[in-house]
Amino acid sequence: MAGERLEFPKGFVWGTSTAGHQIEGHNSHSDWWRFEHEGKIKDGTVSGKCMDYWNRYEEDHDLMTTLGYKAFRLGIEWAKIEPDDGRIDRAAIERYKKILQSLRDHNLQICLTLYHWVLPLWFADKGGWLWEDAVARFMKFTEIAVNEFAEFPDLWVTLNEPLVPAAAGYLAGEFPPEKKSIKFYGKVTGKLLRAHALNYELIHKTVKKGPDGNPPKVGVATAYQHIVPWGSSGPAGLHEKIMARVFVSGSFNGWDGAVETGRLKYPFGKGAVPGLKDSYDYCGVNYYMRQSIKFDSKLKDRAFVDFESVPPGIEKTQMGWQIYPPGLYHTLMNVWRRFKKPIYITENGIADDTDSQRPKYLLEHLAQVHRAIKDGADVRGYYQWSFIDNFEWKEGFCKKFGLVAVNHADPDLKREPRPSAHMYSEIIKENAITSEILKKYAPGANEGVFGSKWRI
Ligand code: FCB
Repeated sequence: MAGERLEFPKGFVWGTSTAGHQIEGHNSHSDWWRFEHEGKIKDGTVSGKCMDYWNRYEEDHDLMTTLGYKAFRLGIEWAKIEPDDGRIDRAAIERYKKILQSLRDHNLQICLTLYHWVLPLWFADKGGWLWEDAVARFMKFTEIAVNEFAEFPDLWVTLNEPLVPAAAGYLAGEFPPEKKSIKFYGKVTGKLLRAHALNYELIHKTVKKGPDGNPPKVGVATAYQHIVPWGSSGPAGLHEKIMARVFVSGSFNGWDGAVETGRLKYPFGKGAVPGLKDSYDYCGVNYYMRQSIKFDSKLKDRAFVDFESVPPGIEKTQMGWQIYPPGLYHTLMNVWRRFKKPIYITENGIADDTDSQRPKYLLEHLAQVHRAIKDGADVRGYYQWSFIDNFEWKEGFCKKFGLVAVNHADPDLKREPRPSAHMYSEIIKENAITSEILKKYAPGANEGVFGSKWRI
């Protein structure tokens, strides 16, 4: 199979992705910080100094450039900028400016996330997203952030995976503030849709030109799982089909449908939201897995639905997530058909401490990105989650998503690129997946990359 090559379009943006709380360290005054200190993290860790990106950004940016990476997605922490109600920490703003300037100096394109799940404690204590002033107070913070950081981002992400904090925090009771109510889920999602629309407008009003001289590009990094019914026979199978539909329409379609029409529907609210319609300059796609909806009579409180089971023959990650590369292709094609806007894959990656699955995962998913581009989707870039190992929310430090390994317990927090970090460099250098790269890093991926295995 020598000489095969999947070439990406010229100028394709190759980046890596992170979030403030997960790498910076020195988080305090936030709902997640309290949650950690209440012992709610599965492996018992707290984010602490984390990967200390807050102080070691220069070294990390050096490493990104050495590896040949072209872009970086990072987040800013509201709790660092406004640790107490109305008190703005200038030093934190200046630090973020230094970080962003350093990215520029390293010639790295910047993708900046304004909200990646974490709320200041003072805000959380007033009710979090359920507080009646929530959207207005969030806007006060983003006005400061957008004005201060206006010149830097090539891509703006207003919200990261808004349905996740809404569902995990207010419906499933797993993330702060641990509420369990469909009414709250709907209410919070409705507010996040409003917050997105307002931020879209704010950024366009404040920033006339992005670094490329064009108007700023603003979007949302949306979590898309590829949802399918398990395929049981009889009434169980019917339940699976119905629940798969309910799940898709109550989540992705609900969110995207609201952005398409500019209107809220049950359970997110009612009526038009000014500025919401068509408020994507690009679509941000976060894709990790397929989920198969399986009937389980024991799961009454979850509508008899098991999301976690993995069908025979399908590999899973250390998170227990199904590895299903064509789900990325189908997601890209759906998003493209629906919005006809440029697409950036703002996250895609795998927890794998030994790097035994990652090279194959990466190659097979990139092959699906290539396939979508070939079939007409305007995919402009790919941000691998993640640049370095980090604090994986409720899982803690034990789940290793980094191309670059960092052991949080090592006082030196040494950065050690895994083989896949080098593989990614080679792909970027070639702007292609080649049979040589595949042979060197993941010969087992041949059928999934150049063959027909995942052409489904
Ligand atoms: C996504 C989150 C990101 C990270 C990855 C593994 O859902 O946006 O912060 O935790 O999952």
